[in-house]
Amino acid sequence: MPKRVIDQIDVTGKSVLMRVDFNVPIEEGRITDDRRIVQALPSIRSVLDRGGRLTLMSHLGRPSGRGFEEEFSMEPVARRLGELLSMEIPLAPDCVGPDTVRVVASLRNEQCVLLENLRFHAEETLVDQAKKNPDKRLTPEQAAQVDAFASKLASLGALYCNDAFGTCHRRHVSMYDVPMKIGAGRRVCGFLLQKELKFLGDALFAARRPFIAILGGAKVSDKIGVIESLLPKVDRILIGGAMAYSFFKARGQEVGRSRCEADKLDLARRLMEKAGDKLVLPSDNVCAAELAPRVATQVVGEAIPSDQMGLDVGPQTVERYRQIVLGAKTVLWNGPLGAFETPPFDAGTRALAEALAEATARGATTIIGGGDSAAAVEAAGLAERITHISTGGGASLEFLEGKSFPTIDILDEG
Ligand code: 3PG
Repeated sequence: MPKRVIDQIDVTGKSVLMRVDFNVPIEEGRITDDRRIVQALPSIRSVLDRGGRLTLMSHLGRPSGRGFEEEFSMEPVARRLGELLSMEIPLAPDCVGPDTVRVVASLRNEQCVLLENLRFHAEETLVDQAKKNPDKRLTPEQAAQVDAFASKLASLGALYCNDAFGTCHRRHVSMYDVPMKIGAGRRVCGFLLQKELKFLGDALFAARRPFIAILGGAKVSDKIGVIESLLPKVDRILIGGAMAYSFFKARGQEVGRSRCEADKLDLARRLMEKAGDKLVLPSDNVCAAELAPRVATQVVGEAIPSDQMGLDVGPQTVERYRQIVLGAKTVLWNGPLGAFETPPFDAGTRALAEALAEATARGATTIIGGGDSAAAVEAAGLAERITHISTGGGASLEFLEGKSFPTIDILDEG
């Protein structure tokens, strides 16, 4: 059942509490990738343009949870959001407390405030933290703290909107307890969350075929869930990144000094048996003696020389993967094919990004499952030529693994 969306409720003169994921990369006070802010603008504008009073809340990074820390302040985000909306966005001094309540209460129609980092309060993440305890539960004292924090946040809005797909895999107070307190009939999803659910959901349940998944990254262990979930659904899974070397080793091939998970070889073997022809591994590799910029490289076949490490897929693999991608109707990509942050080992990942752009132009639906591959597509200047780039890293991976998200389940149905 689809979720009720922000434009399906009357917000005029009402206070809307919107959870966004403004967890953006910041270097020396400057936001280096504002995609998550830009992608939340349609929901924000929908509230403001219809005369709503909007309170935005988000986390940023992983502060200690013991109060304000300059490094994790939402201040650069408030500034950037103000630039994008061409209006001043005040930053509340905290996310709860009397001063914040006053700022929120003083909002007029069409005005917006951003709360300070939710994670300055340990309560925000306590439930997930407690899952690491032996009994996986909160103490009664912690449960009371969580409840009080949820009540304070919930008091800031009459309506709740979740437009924070990137955080939907976290059962945090602002994601779950707050909408529970605000109540049924008053908790909806934003346009970004709706878009993510459509593209990632269609990939899982209604993909046009041939459907090709490309999975890269360093570790097989990070991608087991997604490989197992996608296997029955896709026509092929193309493998890249250091993860390929664990599969090579599991097949008994020489991997030299390549990064490889020695304790996951049985698992890699099991996955290969299960997948059969569906799992496609690189047929050539770019190697070097070390991972360093502009180091001497060589292209080898499947076996990596003992003094070398595999750091990217080779040109033959790139061409083979490109042809498969160009023949597909749906392409889903998660994880780079090589050590793409260090040129020249970005070549395979860049070439794949170009192949996806070409496939999009030919009518395929192309989806990037967030994280490093999203960054690679941005760096290659190809973002506009991809059907959908997810704003979720961990969230899109868990979604593609088929995990259920209580934070989304509880939102009103449309
Ligand atoms: C992300 O960047 O993946 C989300 O914002 C969640 O952040 P977290 O991994 O710190 O919970």
